Amino acid sequence: MSRPQRQVFVCSQQRPPNHPRGSCAAKGSQAVLQALWGELQKRQAFDKVGITYSGCLGPCDGGPNVLVYPEAVLYQRVAPADVAEIFDQHLEKGVPVERLQAPPAVW
Ligand code: FES
Repeated sequence: MSRPQRQVFVCSQQRPPNHPRGSCAAKGSQAVLQALWGELQKRQAFDKVGITYSGCLGPCDGGPNVLVYPEAVLYQRVAPADVAEIFDQHLEKGVPVERLQAPPAVW
């Protein structure tokens, strides 16, 4: 297995209904994860990008949250429709998608 250039963590944390922190799972993170895996498959980018689910990343309010390393860029309120843009700009060209980035006060 080759070492990917970028690793994507998709918060898939679940919590009980009415939990005060909510969760990324309740906000649709599974659909985002599936969209990312689908795009990875479509582009056959396995040598460049790794994608995995994660537990809570911290700032639950802004979920679904997606964290990309090595740049440590946190994307918030990510929807499946954003996935192609994240791949085009960030995962393939190294340019983070500004409009989805968490504000400095958050991350
Ligand atoms: S539940 Fe996703 S960041 Fe906390």
